[in-house]
Amino acid sequence: MAKLYPCILFHVSLLSTLTNACTRVSYTSGPEDGHRVIIGRTLDWNLPPLSSLYAFPAGLQRNGSAGENSLKWTSKYGSVIATMNDVLTFDGMNTEGLHGGLLYLTGTDFGDHNTSRPGLSISFWVQYFLDNYASVADVRADLFTPSGEDRFQVRTREIIPGMASVVHLVLGDATGDNLIMEYLQGKLHFYQSPDYRVVTNEPTYDQQLAIQQYWQNKTDFTLPGTAGPVDRFARMADNLRRAPVATTMVEAVRVVQCLLRSISVTLRPQTANVANAATLWRALADTKDKRYFYESVTDGVSLWVNVSTVELGKNGTTKRLSLAPGDSGLYGRYGDATNDFTKAEPYTPILANSETGDGFGGVGQVSIPGLTNTTAGS
Ligand SMILES: *[C@@H]1O[C@H](CO)[C@@H](O)[C@H](O)[C@H]1NC(C)=O
Ligand SMILES: *[C@@H]1O[C@H](CO)[C@@H](O)[C@H](O)[C@H]1NC(C)=O
Ligand SMILES: *[C@@H]1O[C@H](CO)[C@@H](O)[C@H](O)[C@H]1NC(C)=O
Ligand SMILES: *[C@@H]1O[C@H](CO)[C@@H](O)[C@H](O)[C@H]1NC(C)=O
Ligand SMILES: *[C@@H]1O[C@H](CO)[C@@H](O)[C@H](O)[C@H]1NC(C)=O
Ligand SMILES: *[C@@H]1O[C@H](CO)[C@@H](O)[C@H](O)[C@H]1NC(C)=O
Repeated sequence: MAKLYPCILFHVSLLSTLTNACTRVSYTSGPEDGHRVIIGRTLDWNLPPLSSLYAFPAGLQRNGSAGENSLKWTSKYGSVIATMNDVLTFDGMNTEGLHGGLLYLTGTDFGDHNTSRPGLSISFWVQYFLDNYASVADVRADLFTPSGEDRFQVRTREIIPGMASVVHLVLGDATGDNLIMEYLQGKLHFYQSPDYRVVTNEPTYDQQLAIQQYWQNKTDFTLPGTAGPVDRFARMADNLRRAPVATTMVEAVRVVQCLLRSISVTLRPQTANVANAATLWRALADTKDKRYFYESVTDGVSLWVNVSTVELGKNGTTKRLSLAPGDSGLYGRYGDATNDFTKAEPYTPILANSETGDGFGGVGQVSIPGLTNTTAGS
């Protein structure tokens, strides 16, 4: 068995290997709890994500923010979402219990810019689905135009200098259905099934399923232990198989918290290892009672939001909840934060009008307050 020497990584430039990783899981409780579906995920990244929560109402006018011929829509459903750097929707759930999230996927290629297809900035890729659809089945039925064309084209752009913003998108809903979408060589590949509950990063999802099959037959063996996406996939799938069947909401939330905490990558110096990103926060969406939970690893923040009550109706206004650590120390923000949101403008998305699908297009780098190259922890 070949030993991996860390020095191999010294030949790779630091910035090009910075990456976010992340693990996602969907869990269903037992009949006594009405088969509650809870979707949880970690955010694993090498940089401070500077996230905040937004509550977006129904009735918001949106555009794809991808230059000429951007997609246009008006939000049909309200949603509560977590941003990345307040420039894109990274994870969230709408009032119907549709959950969506992004996870890093090396090898993603959104294709060359085709101006005759409406453009959608990567900032709004998740948000578009939360704004428009109630379930995975609704999304699937509307993925293509009647003539079989893609409805839109995702455009990306480098957010962190030198790092392509390349991700796959995972949807899940209150029925337990899941839909994974990946772009390879400009073409959409999608996988839909109630069985596709665990998602990490590389390789592409067809191969992740093969890995799942492989480990399924080896449950009495020691599972692979690194922070890499293949190993996290194998461990989460195994932990999920062994998870108890919850009979109440509180039990179900605890089971998913346990799954997420155990798959989390511990804090460590962030160096040039792709698989090395530490877990910085975890989010959990109860699609039955429409509660969204957020837990920071680095700050005193562990809260939930009642998605039904943040004024998400048509006359609601956009609201924001800052997750900044502040100087509160131990006295952080805990518990029900539904009433702590304050009126705000929607965040400004990344204008992503790159000509190629590689993530390096757009007009200059995105300027993110508080984030400079030096925070990369080199
Ligand atoms: C598109 O939306 C962004 C904010 O989401 C806004 O700044 C911009 O003015 C809008 N553009 C058009 C053409 O409506
Ligand atoms: C560009 O998009 C249009 C509309 O979806 C489609 O008909 C056409 O085939 C696309 N062109 C290329 C080169 O993919
Ligand atoms: C795992 O076991 C099942 C049932 O015994 C079998 O059908 C399947 O081919 C096995 N898969 C692998 C990858 O060995
Ligand atoms: C959320 O708020 C609504 C409206 O006040 C209430 O009916 C519902 O019980 C709340 N849900 C939870 C899970 O607290
Ligand atoms: C929303 O606001 C409009 C105009 O202020 C009003 O006519 C309408 O009744 C309101 N709708 C709801 C559901 O409150
Ligand atoms: C960040 O790093 C990139 C690539 O090394 C460099 O081009 C850019 O000038 C740096 N920006 C800042 C703000 O230091």
